Amino acid sequence: MLSLTRTRNQARSNRTLSLGGMDYVEPRKKSNLVVKILMAAALTALCIILLKQSPNFNTPSQFPHHETGVTHVLVTGGAGYIGSHAALRLLHDFYRVTIVDNLSRGNLGAIKVLQQLFPQPGRLQFIHADLGDPKAVHKIFAENAFDAVMHFAAVAYVGESTLDPLKYYHNITSNTLVVLEAMATHGVKTLIYSSTCATYGEPEKTPITEQTPQLPINPYGKAKKMAEDIILDFHKNSDMAVMILRYFNVIGSDPEGRLGEAPRPELREHGRISSACFDAARGIIPGLKVRGTDYKTSDGTCIRDYIDVTDLVGAHVKALEKVKTGHVGIYNVGTGRGRTVKEFVEACKKATGVPIKVDFLPRRPGDYAEVFSDSTKIRNELNWSAKYTNLQESLQIAWRWQKAHLNGYETRQVKS
Ligand SMILES: NC(=O)c1ccc[n+]([C@@H]2O[C@H](COP(=O)([O-])OP(=O)(O)OC[C@H]3O[C@@H](n4cnc5c(N)ncnc54)[C@H](O)[C@@H]3O)[C@@H](O)[C@H]2O)c1
Ligand SMILES: *[C@@H]1O[C@H](CO)[C@@H](O)[C@H](O)[C@H]1NC(C)=O
Ligand SMILES: *[C@@H]1O[C@H](CO)[C@@H](O)[C@H](O)[C@H]1NC(C)=O
Ligand SMILES: *[C@@H]1O[C@H](CO)[C@@H](O)[C@H](O)[C@H]1NC(C)=O
Repeated sequence: MLSLTRTRNQARSNRTLSLGGMDYVEPRKKSNLVVKILMAAALTALCIILLKQSPNFNTPSQFPHHETGVTHVLVTGGAGYIGSHAALRLLHDFYRVTIVDNLSRGNLGAIKVLQQLFPQPGRLQFIHADLGDPKAVHKIFAENAFDAVMHFAAVAYVGESTLDPLKYYHNITSNTLVVLEAMATHGVKTLIYSSTCATYGEPEKTPITEQTPQLPINPYGKAKKMAEDIILDFHKNSDMAVMILRYFNVIGSDPEGRLGEAPRPELREHGRISSACFDAARGIIPGLKVRGTDYKTSDGTCIRDYIDVTDLVGAHVKALEKVKTGHVGIYNVGTGRGRTVKEFVEACKKATGVPIKVDFLPRRPGDYAEVFSDSTKIRNELNWSAKYTNLQESLQIAWRWQKAHLNGYETRQVKS
């Protein structure tokens, strides 16, 4: 990366200069010099002893420095569902990771799991801060040497966005602006942005390609579209390397059961279909309500594209590997295959082994019949395609975690 090379060259030329200076020491002052050197050594030793007693000395931080061969990624929203899975994958692939999260929605428990898995110095750092606070964000960029940013932090419930639109424009659009400004000021040139199929609104034609017009119909989709526009405009006049990934419906969790999806209880009512399925299986809610059975689809229920989180974070790593200075890549991230809500419910029943009660109700206003991705572009350009395409298996993995964590991450959580 350009910024990395520059810093290293500067460091090297400084070193040469100071060595050059030593050549000009006059010979008769040498004995004087020896005394001075001894005193300096004694003082240095004293300083080291004093410093060693300060708690931070034993772990000199690697995060403020660029390091050859190490890519340091800032993961915003890394305590959340997708961000924590992305951080796990990045750490596993030997990236250096800094997570910034305000914990307004995410889980400290997820951070603890990651810290336990990667306790070595210079691997993972967690910073508790709000991206809505520009001063805090600039400080974070000033004190750390990031090579790239994966920007996940957001509020992300369509229903909630219609009830509280300002929260969405603030925490999505405005916060993305803050992150971009900090990147510009501090010369961080690589951005992977979490966008969504909600930016397409109700498309006239499916599958959805990246050329499908973006006409979002709710504040969530609009806020994400605006953030995309800001990124694109900024990029035109800079040498940023950008990837915008538009995810479809994300499901599943870490196959090794280390992380899961644990939304706040108060968000249940806005919840996503997989959370509702697990809540129904656990008896927290009486059953599932399927709204609309008269759509023009094979079985009358809506069609969606469910992408497993493991595949999704794989797409992020590919995007990071293939990102190019001065270029923007925009990609749909889905399986390319639509599933009806009935199919989903059947898979959920099989995955949980619970005969979940299902009520079929009239359509809900604002739901579109069919949304699924055309994944040709990402396959051709990033050599990525979904592998976890068995709905039942993805749900089974997530269900295993749910059953083992009935209170989400709560059992591991320490009060802060
Ligand atoms: N889950 C999906 O199906 C889906 C689909 C498409 C796109 N996305 C996008 O993926 C991203 C991650 O979604 P998720 O499902 O993991 O959500 P999540 O709520 O689990 O995670 C979001 C994280 O961001 C943090 N956050 C929010 N506002 C913040 C702020 N102001 N400062 C610091 N941290 C803040 C929250 O605390 C949380 O940990 C979002 O950008 C979302 O729009 C998700
Ligand atoms: C994070 O957001 C909450 C509201 O959700 C706010 O009360 C809190 O002050 C914020 N925390 C930090 C550290 O910014
Ligand atoms: C979103 O923005 C509001 C307004 O600044 C803030 O109070 C809140 O903590 C932010 N985060 C969430 C999750 O609402
Ligand atoms: C594409 O990815 C597969 C593994 O998923 C790999 O075997 C193959 O070599 C890759 N092809 C190219 C052109 O990079």
